[in-house]
Amino acid sequence: MSRIAYVNGRYLPLRDARVSIEDRGYQFADGVYEVCEVWGGRIVDMPRHTARLERSLRELRIALPMPLAALSVILHELVARNHVHYGLVYLQITRGVARRDHVFPPAGVRPSVVATARSLSLQKNQASAERGIAVATVPENRWPRVDIKTVALLPNVLARQAAREQGAYEAWYVGADGFVTEGSASNAWIVTHSGSVVTRSAERGILAGITRAVLMDVLAALQITLEERPFTVAEACGAAEAFVTAATQLVMPVVTVDGKSIGSGAPGPVTRRLREEFHRFCQFS
Ligand code: PDD
Repeated sequence: MSRIAYVNGRYLPLRDARVSIEDRGYQFADGVYEVCEVWGGRIVDMPRHTARLERSLRELRIALPMPLAALSVILHELVARNHVHYGLVYLQITRGVARRDHVFPPAGVRPSVVATARSLSLQKNQASAERGIAVATVPENRWPRVDIKTVALLPNVLARQAAREQGAYEAWYVGADGFVTEGSASNAWIVTHSGSVVTRSAERGILAGITRAVLMDVLAALQITLEERPFTVAEACGAAEAFVTAATQLVMPVVTVDGKSIGSGAPGPVTRRLREEFHRFCQFS
């Protein structure tokens, strides 16, 4: 059965779903995206994702092409049509199709809207969480506006590939100041030996992850101390536990960084508990 995608007003089999080669997303990476988890056939934390989407669009001066309620209908329709029980929905909005020119296209060019949904293996995700993942560090080389969720992900692609080639699953960016910023597609966290959970403030240098925001609610409810501050690779290597968060990975334990074991070298109890509790604090729609 072919997967169904949404492209500018139409639901189409994936193989027929196309945009123009003059789409500014294709030519300039001039667009934004969101990825939401699908859990039990429902979309996780949609209002938080759409709020971030609106912010990304505003920062890039791309008009919201339709009301948020209409976007929500499309994403739910895709989940249903693709029979996704566990997986993700992907939404991309670009500045639209226009003759190639760096300046913004004339008024009246409509943003392009593309969305897909697909099933993922919960078993595989769970198996990774039981083993924990390896992380490799890479120098931070992205533009300063990583708070905007743009489709301009070339540095992230190269970082993830570099990690893979070193036998690691995720890459952690490290700034010139020696502090970890975030992963190539996730936020980075450690757990100290006194049981505090540490992650960098989202004011600068990282994407404000939705999973990160929900996890902060989990920490507050469980009365676990949160320290919003940067940490170095050395601190991570000496920490009790480490993990990453993203819509596609939830709370994923990290067991090595650059080949050095974190804590016992196995997923730690705080990380496991946060992963288990996570969905209790999500909003489903
Ligand atoms: N990425 N930081 C970066 C650079 C990311 O790309 C992502 C998510 C996150 C975590 O954000 P959230 O918790 O909202 O998923 C942090 C998505 C999953 C992706 O690009 O596939």
